[in-house]
Amino acid sequence: MKKIIAILSLIVIVVVFQFCSKNDAGVVSPVTVPSLPVTAFNYLVGYPAHIQTALLANDNTPVDNPITNDGATLGRVLFYDKILSKNNSISCGSCHKQDLSFDDETQFSKGFDGGLTTRNSMSLLNLRFYKNGKMFWDERAATLEKQALQPIQNHDEMGLTLAELESKVKAQTYYPSLFQKAFGTADIDSVRIAKALAQFERSIVTYQSKYDQVKQGTATFTTLEDQGEQLFLTAVGPGGGGNTCATCHTPPMFLKSNVPGFSITDIGDTVGINGVNKFKSGSLRNIGTRTKLFHDGSVTNLSAMLTAGAPGSGTIPIKAHSVAPGDVQKLLAFLNTLTDNTITTEEKFSNPFK
Ligand code: HEC
Ligand code: HEC
Repeated sequence: MKKIIAILSLIVIVVVFQFCSKNDAGVVSPVTVPSLPVTAFNYLVGYPAHIQTALLANDNTPVDNPITNDGATLGRVLFYDKILSKNNSISCGSCHKQDLSFDDETQFSKGFDGGLTTRNSMSLLNLRFYKNGKMFWDERAATLEKQALQPIQNHDEMGLTLAELESKVKAQTYYPSLFQKAFGTADIDSVRIAKALAQFERSIVTYQSKYDQVKQGTATFTTLEDQGEQLFLTAVGPGGGGNTCATCHTPPMFLKSNVPGFSITDIGDTVGINGVNKFKSGSLRNIGTRTKLFHDGSVTNLSAMLTAGAPGSGTIPIKAHSVAPGDVQKLLAFLNTLTDNTITTEEKFSNPFK
């Protein structure tokens, strides 16, 4: 009898092993536990000079929440953890997908019970460089830390109360040690959850595109790309007021807060920044790979945007963004140099739950 029990136990152990995965430390753990490196990834990389200068001038990192490798690691786990939604079905990463530059491919995104968001998802690249720090198309969240808890509590998106959030996170075996490393004690609360998420998000910075190589002198633009850059920087563009593309989408992150903005009068969703009909724009980095543009996700690619209607002829942003036919190919060529393919594949930004 004892022998049979011993053999059965062995079988059970072997079967359990089959359903488990090995992490880098060689420790066997169930697949529902995040797989993390023994030594944390480096989220504090040194950026090239042209990026570093922009960072110093625009960084929205608050003094009480600087990025640390352990903080960003915790943020990464939270970002991809489906327990942050009511029925454990979606995570932040479901609507902000790494391979899509932390954006979604659909016009509107599906929440935990199939409900749709009312605006297009936003790419999370270079959030740290948005100087006024205000988040969402209408800037309704004052900081990235304040923003982080909103999708979790949103009825269509993740559907939890803060109390539910805290108790669900506390119930997972892998969190106490991650909070300990990130914040010095294993205490878990929503303030720390928000801080860790914000640290991870602020570490998502693009600096390895062709554009960056050109700025560092290690690559050169083609003639078309060069003409596109000149247009972007100098041609008086859409929206009136003598603005160029660069006025509102300022290099090197192609991002700027407190821009003039467009007054949008002829589409359904018009309650934007401060309740008026204007919206922000995120970083134009990796824009050539993104498939749904503008706050209503109505534009499917860059050439559609650049060719719609006569220049500056309309009040909807897509029409206001059109350029002269001869300039389309030049601007497209230039905008495509902003694509950084490392950000979409780097392991430190990827889902650790697999
Ligand atoms: C169901 C899809 C969905 C989920 C889940 C989701 N988001 Fe979003 N996210 C969106 C949409 C849609 C917007 C734009 C909403 C708006 O402006 O009204 C957005 C906007 C943002 C922004 C603003 C970016 C900017 O430039 O202003 C940040 C930051 C963000 N989300 C982070 C997160 C984090 C962190 C989580 C997880 C806690 C998360 N999101 C979960 C769909 C989602
Ligand atoms: C007056 C300021 C302003 C000017 C000038 C301007 N833009 Fe924009 N741009 C915006 C705003 C604001 C949005 C977001 C509007 C919205 O979604 O309602 C935007 C959106 C975009 C988008 C889509 C971004 C996304 O994440 O969906 C692209 C691409 C773009 N602009 C490129 C350009 C180019 C190229 C030029 C020059 C030809 C230009 N813009 C000129 C303010 C401006």
